[in-house]
Amino acid sequence: MYNANTLKIGVFGANCSGSRTATTVPERWSASWPDCLALARLADDAGIDFILPIGRWKGYGGETDFHGTTLETVTLACGQLAATSRVTVFGTVHAPLFHPLIAAKEFVTADHIGEGRFGLNIVAGWNEGEFEMFGVRQRDHEERYAFAQEWIDIVKRAWAEPDEFDFHGKYFHLAGVRAKPKPFAGTRPIIMNAGSSGTGQAFALRNCDALFTATGATRKSLEGIAARVDEVKREAQSYGRDIEVFGTGQVICRPSQREAEEYHRHANIDNADWGAIERMMALRDITRDNTGAEEYAAKRRYFAANAIGGYPFVGTPDQVAAELATIGRAGVRGIAVSFVNFLDELPYFCGEVLPRLARMGLREKN
Ligand SMILES: Cc1cc2nc3c(=O)[nH]c(=O)nc-3n(C[C@H](O)[C@H](O)[C@H](O)COP(=O)(O)O)c2cc1C
Repeated sequence: MYNANTLKIGVFGANCSGSRTATTVPERWSASWPDCLALARLADDAGIDFILPIGRWKGYGGETDFHGTTLETVTLACGQLAATSRVTVFGTVHAPLFHPLIAAKEFVTADHIGEGRFGLNIVAGWNEGEFEMFGVRQRDHEERYAFAQEWIDIVKRAWAEPDEFDFHGKYFHLAGVRAKPKPFAGTRPIIMNAGSSGTGQAFALRNCDALFTATGATRKSLEGIAARVDEVKREAQSYGRDIEVFGTGQVICRPSQREAEEYHRHANIDNADWGAIERMMALRDITRDNTGAEEYAAKRRYFAANAIGGYPFVGTPDQVAAELATIGRAGVRGIAVSFVNFLDELPYFCGEVLPRLARMGLREKN
């Protein structure tokens, strides 16, 4: 992340089985440690800027039990950081599930292993079933972020305060806190959040370096994306802060447009794991009971085609590079992308798309 690339590229969701495509195709992502390790090395060699995992504790069911097998993100980051030298690796952490001082210590440990390359994605939580599994009550939406505020304040103080300190808030009473070592070489790990509500976004603007946001809806319009980036940056300035905007997507890149579109249809639609997709929709309160048949079918297809909420970059290297460049020129600082199978598909993407982005002035040559 600490380089001159105008448009950073990351890989997203590789710690979860199926990654971000709920599909039954046999080559779907395993999320095994050997595959995650090989991916980290491949990404590091190819000049990928960051690895962003998903904090997920419970699968969505369906034929494949989509996201049923996941590796814990901070411990995974430690393994990946030890095996690489350039790439930034995030841990994605649900604030209500980890004590902030244990979390702060884990982050510092990962940051030392990576010599300053650890990043934190803080999640306030939205998936009730996951919280029930821990016996933790999911707070109401506004309170979730009030809790997360104290949590991140404690983490930051543990990282920064040279002396012993006390913390007295609504949710935490901590006495005589000592936390050493501090993050690597006087740096602070980069912090991101992906809140989409007003409260979630305000939390990111107050506390984080990067906000992950949906850029898909207005993808065709440079002005639309630029306006969204401007809006976020202006609001951040009202808190006296500077923030970068990031997006997400799924990449299917093939030598011909037809091949890419056929594979997208094959993996995302013809072999979709509909059971898992319907479960994800139900979690967002979209069911056959409360939604008309036609609207439900359209939403179901939209969920499948868009790889659980990220824009599909489907096409030739020229097409994919052009779309990424559009987003980069609109001011989006980076994009976290997923593949059906990272190890099969990332080499072609890195070999063909990254040099095009370099020629367009959006990235340095690897
Ligand atoms: C790029 C991105 C990554 C996210 N990562 C996770 C995650 O790993 N685990 C999780 O439970 N929620 C994750 N979320 C959900 C958000 O943290 C957030 O809860 C959601 O966007 C709803 O916003 P709100 O909390 O402001 O209502 C992610 C969302 C996005 C867009």
